[in-house]
Amino acid sequence: MASIRKINCVWGLIFLSLIFVGESQNSNQFVETRNTQFVLNGSTFVFNGFNAYWMMMVAASDKSQRSKVSNVLAQASAAGLKVCRTIAFGEGNIPLALQPSPGVYNENVFEGLDFVVSEAGKYNIKLMISLVNNFKELGGKLQYVQWARDAGVKIKNPDDFYTNAVIRGYYKNHVKKVLTRVNTITKIAYKDDPIIMAWQLMNEPRSAPQYAKSLHKWIEEMAAYVKSIDNKHLLSIGMEGFYGEETPDRKQYNPGNYTSGTEFVKNHLVKEIDFATMHVYPDRWLSTKIETERTRFLQRWIDIHFNDSMTIVKKPLILGEFGRVIVGNDVKYRDSFLTEVYSYIYAHAKNSRGGMAGSLVWQLMSEGMESYSDGYQIVLSQNPSTTKIMRDESTRMVALEQRVAKPN
Ligand SMILES: *[C@@H]1O[C@H](CO)[C@@H](O)[C@H](O)[C@H]1NC(C)=O
Ligand SMILES: *[C@@H]1O[C@H](CO)[C@@H](O)[C@H](O)[C@H]1NC(C)=O
Ligand SMILES: *[C@@H]1O[C@H](CO)[C@@H](O)[C@H](O)[C@H]1NC(C)=O
Repeated sequence: MASIRKINCVWGLIFLSLIFVGESQNSNQFVETRNTQFVLNGSTFVFNGFNAYWMMMVAASDKSQRSKVSNVLAQASAAGLKVCRTIAFGEGNIPLALQPSPGVYNENVFEGLDFVVSEAGKYNIKLMISLVNNFKELGGKLQYVQWARDAGVKIKNPDDFYTNAVIRGYYKNHVKKVLTRVNTITKIAYKDDPIIMAWQLMNEPRSAPQYAKSLHKWIEEMAAYVKSIDNKHLLSIGMEGFYGEETPDRKQYNPGNYTSGTEFVKNHLVKEIDFATMHVYPDRWLSTKIETERTRFLQRWIDIHFNDSMTIVKKPLILGEFGRVIVGNDVKYRDSFLTEVYSYIYAHAKNSRGGMAGSLVWQLMSEGMESYSDGYQIVLSQNPSTTKIMRDESTRMVALEQRVAKPN
């Protein structure tokens, strides 16, 4: 007995060390959350990152275009960026639609997304992937509603998106289709691929104010649905962070009289939602205001979301989108805006050991993408001053990472 136990013990040690070696060499682990922090490979995960919504479409447009995706990932990696937010949607009669009609998918576009996921793996850049657009660009919520109308379903208004059974069915079908997709390049199902950090239910969900409760119920239903298919990945809503009627004392922090139907606190308290997001566009949201007022707004906006995420929601927070249009070719104002945002993000990250976990600038592009330009595009290879600001933020954010104790 004793000797058998000893032998078992030796085999156990060998087995454990194999696991340990396997784990420490595996760059592909899932990002998790613990309390108000992201955790990856035994450390808090604190990062700088970027948006690049166009990746799937550019990769699908023509194989010769795929180098644009690779170039941006390579340049981002060199600047220390660790997270990329992109999309897995595109509906209706648009060029390069992922889903031209309900439940019908364009395999070529899906293969574009396969390429993006596979390539992100090469550069070890984690992906945050949004599943539908609130806005009409690339189809979005309104296209889903139109599909239901076309099928003879009686629709009263666009916010029926959140309540109508047929439309909720279309959306769930899409979720399932994307999450269970097996990547044709890596052969890994998306739901099993650790290079994906998180799903987002919707890009910037909004509703008319009287539909706020419907939007909340939709978040509850769809969050549970996503987790029923995939409980390895983190999930977020994808919201901009507006406060609603449930927190009247917080409405003063909204830009002007925004009535968006979202409830930053209540929506993020939904059990299956793993972290909170906010977006900020002072130049667009406060277009009539002077610079000092925009700065004051920006600081308060980041502060209040940070406070609420750490103390009430008790989940990590990211700034999922922010940016500033460049004037002509002059990046001066944008550079100072980025510097300012990064300093707030870093200060909060430091004070919360990575509870404020990072920010994703809108947005990186490659050279030769003028047709996708929206005024916010940053081409790292052409904007050395911006690249330096972003690289510096990456370096100091990553330096905040700390080992965490193993949970029991
Ligand atoms: C994971 O953590 C271990 C221990 O700190 C480290 O040796 C290894 O390089 C890390 N792996 C990655 C991919 O960061
Ligand atoms: C909000 O709306 C009220 C009533 O229309 C108006 O008096 C107030 O000035 C608005 N506030 C802002 C910040 O736009
Ligand atoms: C956030 O919390 C800190 C510390 O309690 C407080 O000083 C600050 O005023 C709060 N920020 C906002 C915008 O309420």
